[in-house]
Amino acid sequence: MAFDLDMIKAVYAGMGDKIAAARTIVGRPLTMTEKILYAHLYDGKATQAFERGNSYVDFAPDRVAMQDATAQMALLQFMQAGKAKVAVPSTVHCDHLIQAKIGAEQDLQIANTENKEVYDFLASVSNKYGIGFWKPGAGIIHQVVLENYAFPGGMMIGTDSHTPNAGGLGMVAIGVGGADAVDVMAGMAWELKFPKVIGVKLTGKMSGWTSAKDVILKVAGILTVKGGTGAIVEYFGEGANNLSCTGKATICNMGAEIGATTSLFAYDAKMKDYLNGTERAEIAALADQVAEHLRADDEVYANPASFYDQLIEIDLNTLEPHVNGPFTPDAAWPISEFAAAVRAHEWPAKLEVGLIGSCTNSSYEDITRAASIAKQATDKGLTVNAEFTVTPGSELVRYTVERDGLLDTFAEMGGVVLANACGPCIGQWARHTDDPKRKNSIITSFNRNFAKRNDGNPNTHAFVASPEIVTAFAIAGDLTFNPLTDTLKNKNGEDVMLDEPQGVEMPVKGFAVEDAGFVAPAADGSQVSVIVDPASDRLQLLEGFTPWNGQDLTGMRLLIKAQGKCTTDHISMAGPWLKYRGHLDNISNNMLIGAINAFNGEANKVKNQLVSGTPHAEVPQVARTYKAAGIGSVVVGDENYGEGSSREHAAMEPRFLGVRAVLVKSFARIHETNLKKQGMLALTFANKEDYEKIQEDDIIDIVGLTTFQPGKPLKVVLHHADGSSDSFDVNHTYNEGQIAWFKAGSALNLIRLQNAK
Ligand code: F3S
Repeated sequence: MAFDLDMIKAVYAGMGDKIAAARTIVGRPLTMTEKILYAHLYDGKATQAFERGNSYVDFAPDRVAMQDATAQMALLQFMQAGKAKVAVPSTVHCDHLIQAKIGAEQDLQIANTENKEVYDFLASVSNKYGIGFWKPGAGIIHQVVLENYAFPGGMMIGTDSHTPNAGGLGMVAIGVGGADAVDVMAGMAWELKFPKVIGVKLTGKMSGWTSAKDVILKVAGILTVKGGTGAIVEYFGEGANNLSCTGKATICNMGAEIGATTSLFAYDAKMKDYLNGTERAEIAALADQVAEHLRADDEVYANPASFYDQLIEIDLNTLEPHVNGPFTPDAAWPISEFAAAVRAHEWPAKLEVGLIGSCTNSSYEDITRAASIAKQATDKGLTVNAEFTVTPGSELVRYTVERDGLLDTFAEMGGVVLANACGPCIGQWARHTDDPKRKNSIITSFNRNFAKRNDGNPNTHAFVASPEIVTAFAIAGDLTFNPLTDTLKNKNGEDVMLDEPQGVEMPVKGFAVEDAGFVAPAADGSQVSVIVDPASDRLQLLEGFTPWNGQDLTGMRLLIKAQGKCTTDHISMAGPWLKYRGHLDNISNNMLIGAINAFNGEANKVKNQLVSGTPHAEVPQVARTYKAAGIGSVVVGDENYGEGSSREHAAMEPRFLGVRAVLVKSFARIHETNLKKQGMLALTFANKEDYEKIQEDDIIDIVGLTTFQPGKPLKVVLHHADGSSDSFDVNHTYNEGQIAWFKAGSALNLIRLQNAK
């Protein structure tokens, strides 16, 4: 048994009281989102009402899930906390590093060789600290979580943006950065701005070619890629009850494409079926007992416009299949309008590849519906006119659909089965193409379709649809084909139509698997060694950052005065650097290389105050010179510094290269917190015009640290090269606990100290 029943029992046991307390304090009926959130407050029962979209709140999630790319730095950091075990059930899933090239078996073999050091590290660190380890080939994080760990009313964070997939089983599941995972695994509070709640009422029942995917493709068209920002989307209504649990998961998964914090459905009979079918009948029985807490209050459903921040209604009776794209998932086309759109925009009508599966759409139901279309290619004598690939979401699904003959059906139409991994969904796809400059079209049942996402080629027009629509298009090889109305010529010259897809929600013979790919951790990991090759250029054990020495910071050099936008991408670029995300020293060579130097308008070219002659060099190189000389440095920035992602590398790299303070006009909040966690000073100009006083040759002091306290400004003194000086106040938002992080050298240092006591 992979899941933790005792933890679930404990969550359910406390729910009733916590929700009742919240309802009293808030003074009105509660949405499902609010119930789950108030039941997961870090400090226990609610003592105040939080304002949706405004209040920052500390939560205590029940679980953590990590994929292999983001898990590396998260676990290297966790090792710093000095804990024997993770504080909450956690898992690692090896899915992102497998490249799709030839087919499942060979691709997996190659990945096992190429990524051996990473896998060995992840397996050993998981074993040591009580973390469940899902081997390469076991499946994609979100599908495996849905099959094994998601439970109604639970709260989970995952280091991947499609973590909300678990909302299909009624869980508040939120995609985060590695630093957040570290907090929760180390037993610290996890902070989130209390989200707004968008209600989507589903009426009617789908039929024919329409599937759950079309609900979210339609919602994406309505809300656009930004419409869900800062909100949790709650689906309800009789239409919701008619959707399979895995269909619900598909909808929640793609909530990431509208920027939503997460999405979820209330507990219902379909979820119960899925829990029973995936050998979790005990959870279903427990959930039945607290079912009233696993849905919104009746008054909310009766009068949704009064309780949701925004309300959308979709009639499933009339919902058409959709195709979204190209280049953005919110360009939503009902199938009846798609052919005309292809012609009007002159998108390449010839379809080159159809790809089904991924974390979004590889349930048993999805595969059976797609296979029912694929079978018609053979039965009706149709030629298949595009390449076709299948990416199963997990070994459980793959084994089951193979047993049931469905993979053979795809093989008969010329389909290639890829490894149970992300593959083409994350650009891990060595696509065979004769000319990468040629404009071309592909269609997938995945979630994202931004330029270059799947095959790295900006000329690829990627469209997103349900697996059955993708399969029909692959047969036709033509994007102007409408499978609902058009005929295809078969090998005998006859005009034939494809029949509507037929799906089976759950396998009649039950799910089966020989080796699901799960490795349980050692009961006592104290004797387990973590495997990191000292010669590795991809992995490096961390050393704790130096604690504060009790004195003001003086004699520091200005490293860069960044001008304009400086996102986490400018601070720690992605792309080829991702290879080094487990090696702090190596990845630090990308530190701030995208930031624009205010003194010369150039990126990655700053003055080295210690070198005469050719004083300008790359930012990381200059930082390393200061560090080697034992001199601290300061980064100065503009507005909203550190916006973008929660990437912890953007805070760790400056800390590693000797930056002691980041002084800006304003911060993106998550980055500000990340800097604090790494033991740095995150400061803002009390008077924004003081930004202009910073000169390229400045030597900088920060004073007032001996009386560092919440709400009290610190002082910056600038010693200019001409002998003059300036000083001004700088603000901070440190609370007592965060000041303790600074003094200890980092939040993890502090936890380690506390654990050692
Ligand atoms: Fe992300 Fe992998 Fe799904 S890349 S979108 S988790 S298939």
